[in-house]
Order: sequence, then C-alpha cells, then structure tokens
Amino acid sequence: ALRGSFASKAQKSSQRSQHHLNPQASYKVAILGAAGGIGQPLALLIKMSPLVSALHLYDIANVKGVAADLSHCNTPSKVLDFTGASELADSLKAVNVVVIPAGVPRKPGMTRDDLFNINANIVKTLVEAVADNCPDAFIHIISNPVNSTVPIAAEVLKQKGVYNPKKLFGVTTLDVVRANTFVAQKKNLKLIDVDVPVVGGHAGITILPLLSKTKPSISFSDEEVQELTARIQNAGTEVVEAKAGAGSATLSMAYGAARFVESSLRALDGDGDVYECTFVQSDLTELPFFASRVKIGKNGVEAIISSDLQGLSEYEKKALEALKPELKASIEKGIAFAQKQP
Ligand code: NAD
Ligand code: LMR
Repeated sequence: ALRGSFASKAQKSSQRSQHHLNPQASYKVAILGAAGGIGQPLALLIKMSPLVSALHLYDIANVKGVAADLSHCNTPSKVLDFTGASELADSLKAVNVVVIPAGVPRKPGMTRDDLFNINANIVKTLVEAVADNCPDAFIHIISNPVNSTVPIAAEVLKQKGVYNPKKLFGVTTLDVVRANTFVAQKKNLKLIDVDVPVVGGHAGITILPLLSKTKPSISFSDEEVQELTARIQNAGTEVVEAKAGAGSATLSMAYGAARFVESSLRALDGDGDVYECTFVQSDLTELPFFASRVKIGKNGVEAIISSDLQGLSEYEKKALEALKPELKASIEKGIAFAQKQP
C-alpha cells in the first residue's frame, strides 16, 4: 500500500514491470529517536511497508509504549523496542537502514543552526554506534542542522574507518514534498504529476528549488518564482511559528522520511529506477556536500545527477552562488566539531 502512495507515475510503471522483485518482507530498519514527534508517525508509516521484516525503535525514554502500540498493527514487520545507551548497540544489529531523527527541534525565533550545540553531540554518539554495529547500513540523517550533522556523521565514520560516502544521506525529501505541493497548488496541477528537484542544503537560502526543472514542464512568472522559492525556503519556519513553541514539522517530515526509506528499500531490493533528492558527499560543485537528485541502487548512491544544474535560469544561477558561502560555513562547522573531539 505504501509503495503506491509514495511512488511517482514513472516509479509505478517501473514497479509493474518488476515482477521478479522479492515480494517478501526482508529488510530491517532502525529509528533512533523513535519516541519523538517525527519518530512516532515515521514508525507507523514504516510499519506499513511490505518490504520491512523488523522495525527497531530506539530512544532514551518512552519507547516501550510506542512499540507495544505499534506492534498490534497486522502488517508483516516485527516491532522491537530499545531504551537507553545500554540497548543502543542491540538496536543496530543486522540493520539495513538506520534513520536518525533524534535531537531537539526549533522554537519560534531560532535558526536550525541554533540547534547545533545539542544535536551535534547526539548525532556524533549515535553514528559512532552505527559505525560499530552496522557499518554497512544506509544512514539517513534527519536531525538538524542537516547541513552540519551530515558532515559530522561523515567525520565520525572516517574516524572509525568505515566511511562509505555512498551510504550516508541527509534527508531533504521534505523540501521536495513541499515544493511539489506548493507548485501544484499555485498552478492548479494534479499533485501526482508534479516533481520539483530541490538542491543545495536544508536551511533558509541553502534550500534551492529548481523551478525551471519542474516536471511537467511549466513556465512561471518572475513573481511566481520569487514567491514560491521564498515559501519553500521558509516552510519549516511557517510550521515552527504555527506550532508556537510546540516544535517543528513532524507529520509532513515523517511522510517525507518514509518516502525516502521506501525508496532506499526498493533500491536495496533491486529496483533500478530509484531517484531522490538528498544531501550527500558530492562533486557537483566545489562544496564537499551538496543536495541534488541522485540515483540510488543496492550499494547506495549510484550516480549524482548533474544535468539538473545545467541550463539554470538566471535567478537560479544567482541563488546557487548566493547559497554557497552559508552552506560551506555550515559544512566546515560540522567537520571542525567532529575533528576537535577527543
Ligand atoms: P522531538 O523532540 O519531538 O523528538 C526527538 C526525540 O529524540 C525525542 O524522543 C528524544 O527523546 C530523542 N532523543 C534525544 N536525544 C537522544 C539520544 N541521544 N538518542 C536517542 N534519542 C534521543 O523532536 P522532532 O520534532 O522529532 O525533531 C527531531 C529533529 O528532527 C530535530 O532536530 C528537528 O530539527 C529535525 N527535523 C529535521 C527535518 C528535515 O527536513 N531534515 C524536518 C523536521 C525536523
Ligand atoms: C523543517 O524544514 O521543517 C525542519 O528542518 C524543521 C525546522 O526546524 O524547520
């Protein structure tokens, strides 16, 4: 059921022709931070996936109840709970995909970078455990600031001697989900048809929707481009303000993260037609990490799609240059943090 709801038209037609794919649930997924605002609805969406055999829920507290509740759903996956540092290693054994939404969310008036001091340490500790227990897994980083937490994760994995840049992903699917929704609304298009690549990073002006590359091909006035770009860049803040102190996006984020997990599982399962935007180690620009569309296969990133950065509009070219200093600084801040740790 989940396959149907996340897949684009193109993805669905390729799935129909793939009868040879293993229909059995066989992948293990761990969520670190599973009792949180994102973790709980994400666990529910992943529990619906026919590709998952076991769902490991880890948090520092409150995870037993979430797991007991979820385990009553009559879908194939077993649900196991793990609480606290002493159970972290077990939560990661034999896992294929690890999703990390652990950490504090923003309140009104904060930037994502204001979360750095707390979340950098949380991500570091969790990725160290991933390196020790399931170094071959796909790692999906949701914890903010993504522009820094992904470089931190890369450094930690390097220090442990197990860094595989093809398997470390910053989750930026929510930016694509938002872009698709806002463009479809503005242009009166059917949602299922719309696909907007979003590149750069995941904070403010580093989020760059490439409206000129929207599928189906449509034209936008200059005002529409400015308005849509600003709305997509500020959509996280829109939710933070509406929640008025109670946190940031959780439900739409869980939807976006579940889509990214499902895409990863289809790739692991042999589907040769999986493309997603994600923040990865990249040679697309002079920056060491950059979000763009990538092709995902059994071994992780198979190709970084460079064509999206060709033939940009003048507006997009300027926005791309303008985002680089901020993105570079956030990447370097993450690397410096990880390198100065004992
Ligand atoms: P939340 O506070 O509701 O939940 C976070 C959970 O993490 C809590 O259950 C907490 O107990 C747990 N946690 C804290 N320290 C932990 C540790 N050391 N190990 C394991 N678990 C730990 O927050 P949320 O709304 O779920 O947001 C989580 C993070 O996701 C935030 O940093 C937020 O900014 C980020 N986020 C990212 C995106 C994105 O697009 N990438 C979107 C939305 C939110
Ligand atoms: C989002 O884009 O919703 C998340 O990054 C959370 C936030 O702080 O805005």
